Amino acid sequence: MAPTGFLDLGPGYLDPELVPTDAIGRAYSAALARYGDTALAYGHNQGALPYRAELARHLTRTDAEPWTPAHLLTTSGTSQALDTLASALSRPEDVVLTEATTYDLALNIFRDHGLTVSAVACDAEGPDPEALERTVASVRASGRRVAFAYLIPTFHNPTARLIPTARRNDLVVAAHRQNLLIVEDDAYADLSLDGAETPPSLTALAQWDGALRLGTFSKTLAPGMRLGWLGGSPALCRQLADRGVAHSGGSPSHFTALAVAELMHDRSYVEHLQRLRPRLAHRRDALSATLRERLRPDFTVRPVRGGLFTWVELPSWLSEQEAVARASAVGVLVQPGSRFGSREPAVRLAHSAHPPSRLLSAAADLVGVWNQKG
Ligand SMILES: Cc1ncc(COP(=O)(O)O)c(C=O)c1O
Repeated sequence: MAPTGFLDLGPGYLDPELVPTDAIGRAYSAALARYGDTALAYGHNQGALPYRAELARHLTRTDAEPWTPAHLLTTSGTSQALDTLASALSRPEDVVLTEATTYDLALNIFRDHGLTVSAVACDAEGPDPEALERTVASVRASGRRVAFAYLIPTFHNPTARLIPTARRNDLVVAAHRQNLLIVEDDAYADLSLDGAETPPSLTALAQWDGALRLGTFSKTLAPGMRLGWLGGSPALCRQLADRGVAHSGGSPSHFTALAVAELMHDRSYVEHLQRLRPRLAHRRDALSATLRERLRPDFTVRPVRGGLFTWVELPSWLSEQEAVARASAVGVLVQPGSRFGSREPAVRLAHSAHPPSRLLSAAADLVGVWNQKG
């Protein structure tokens, strides 16, 4: 919670006004009516079939390959999936490769497992495939194992960057050559804001061989539902479903998975996305278009074609600390780029958690204080 009187542009989740609360309530009731006691029982280890079947249909419509329920494992969100992957696929002291600037909280999960994080050089299109190969080779030459590469190809948190298809292909080829597993965090894949199709997932391009994809309903429905999915080869999904935690507790978020299956089955989820995207685009415009138009030309406001964040690169005369302090002095809280590993001074602003009118006035306030040189 932000202190009173502050507008917090930190949180990357939906304003309660954008959460389809009534539809979610109806979906839980519908799941209970349809499945009765089994909705409240332990779930199938890999996850309830109706959820995985609906999800497979949704992913087949939006990705390049035909997804099936066998390619999917139910998770309680991406954070839990990353923790599971680190438990199942790594050993302490292994290395995880990441983009140099990345989702900071994933790094905490890797560190919990004793993993070391090594950054791969990136350019405007994403991680450099040659640098990826060189980094793998140098880690291995030092006698350590690379557990996997953790990448956010679609509407990256924090920079909003979208890796184009050609670069995705090159990354898949490079990873194959190095026998490197790619873990693709696709938390924002359903949030293309201008109606453009997103490129195929790395996982689909790799045809599930050496790549897996993580999805979550935290960014499109509500984070408190704690529901997501892992998309990988059927063998990997079976392997992960065969762990002690699944034998003891079944799949996570079983009842919620059945409720979301209802939302997908009656098209409520797709209709919600169709309403949500333009509303988010309106908020994005209130914030990032205002900053792009009115900040001095030595600021760079990255294009935001999807997701929840605007990334602003600062001019040499304004330090990150100073930008954050000036914003706070006018009651606006922003995240410093260094929090996400950025070596260039930058700030991240979320457009998801506040109505457009408040974002417009926050953007005007930021322009007022950031444009003052000296
Ligand atoms: C890239 C990325 N991955 C994962 C998460 C967290 O996902 P979940 O709520 O499913 O654990 C976030 C939330 O900010 C995120 O930005």
